Amino acid sequence: MPLIEKLEQIKIVPVLVLNNLDEGIEMCRSLCENGLGAAEITFRTQAAESVIREVSRQFPEMVVGAGTILNVADLHRAFDAGAKFAVSPGFNPKVVAEAVKCGFEFAPGVCTPSECEQAMEFGCKLLKFFPAEASGGTAMLKSLIAPYRHLGIKFMPTGGVKPNNVESYLEIPEVAAVGGTWLNKCPVETIKEAAAIAAKYIRK
Ligand code: 3PG
Repeated sequence: MPLIEKLEQIKIVPVLVLNNLDEGIEMCRSLCENGLGAAEITFRTQAAESVIREVSRQFPEMVVGAGTILNVADLHRAFDAGAKFAVSPGFNPKVVAEAVKCGFEFAPGVCTPSECEQAMEFGCKLLKFFPAEASGGTAMLKSLIAPYRHLGIKFMPTGGVKPNNVESYLEIPEVAAVGGTWLNKCPVETIKEAAAIAAKYIRK
């Protein structure tokens, strides 16, 4: 199944900042067991690469992505570790071009029409709308989507997305999934609540 369709079946992608491998495996096991089969493992810590490698091995069905990919070196580390997709907070043409060259699914961060168009020029079909809330939230995202709707571009809003506003994003048809750190190292109850919300929006 193509990545975007997989994310559309999961709907909420926890953004994880992990200190070590054990923490990462534990968190990903808990996510899988409680109904959220995806995660963005951020390259903000040294543990990211080993977590992606080990989680991909132990939970092959999980859609494990790499986050905060700011340069080509980290892009390769993520790809070689087995990440199924990667995202970045901004649009860096050098990184996106390398991802395209490798055949690595990449969703660059965008929050303006100019950035959307530059990303589309590279063939990106999934864009991370970041920082979602600070950029104007759902009103901004709806305006951003309008001129590109006919192209089938999908978005993954992240940045300020939380339980109190997550559904307003998930209601937008062009939102494949949302991301957020509120699920980083959170209790099992929080995962279950998020999975229940996600289930309402999964396309049948
Ligand atoms: C990200 O990398 O996507 C953001 O740090 C997530 O933003 P949040 O912390 O507001 O969820």
